[in-house]
Amino acid sequence: MKQKLIAGNWKMNGGLAANEALLHEVQQGLAHALASKHAQVAVCVPAVYLSQVQRLVLGSGIDLGAQDVSAHEHGAYTGEISAAMLKDFAVRYAIVGHSERRQYHAETDAHVALKVQRALSTGVTPIVCVGETLAEREAGMTEVVVKRQLAAVIRANGHCISEIVVAYEPVWAIGTGQTASPEQAQAVHAVLRAQLKSSTVHADHVHILYGGSMNAANAVELLSQPDIDGGLIGGAALKAADFLAIIAVAAR
Ligand code: PGA
Repeated sequence: MKQKLIAGNWKMNGGLAANEALLHEVQQGLAHALASKHAQVAVCVPAVYLSQVQRLVLGSGIDLGAQDVSAHEHGAYTGEISAAMLKDFAVRYAIVGHSERRQYHAETDAHVALKVQRALSTGVTPIVCVGETLAEREAGMTEVVVKRQLAAVIRANGHCISEIVVAYEPVWAIGTGQTASPEQAQAVHAVLRAQLKSSTVHADHVHILYGGSMNAANAVELLSQPDIDGGLIGGAALKAADFLAIIAVAAR
């Protein structure tokens, strides 16, 4: 059985002192939470803190992640950060196509697919986010939307698709305290798994994470679904006790 992956998405939160305090506390509790070693842990931090967090997590078993990556290799793209630059800081994961980037930065499916390509060709594992808005769910469009989002990534990346991580994040559940029920989430995860299966024989190895108001209480049922391989954790990743409690559930 593959290990569950619990990735924290700090979003635009933190600071030098706060990061150090949070990671200190997480590392203190990690040995206990990971008693059975059945989980992998990562934190996706704001780019300016990659260097600091690289140092702080060294040797702790926590992997480092970024929250975005440029679709370009290098050049005149003010403000952007390339996959090669992330590699310089031993970044293992980069979140790509988070709904907040799709919404506030007008990232399209095609743009997201290019970012995934750039990450994969540099050896950074993209955590590709897909998910429907409340209006789309109410219109019965959930499956169509997530399949369209993933299809763009599959088209651009061919057989390399087995190297990605997928995160199903219903937009209506992000930061709202409203979670998809385990059955709702599993149904979408099964659709995504089937879509991956039609492109790679290694689809069962791909981690499909759930994200959207996951906490220690709802993680128990969510993480016991057959196609939910971990979580992308926003708010709860900013409190050591909450993050550790989710990790402990995943490591069972
Ligand atoms: P949340 O965020 O856990 O705060 O809902 C998840 C995410 O946006 O990745």
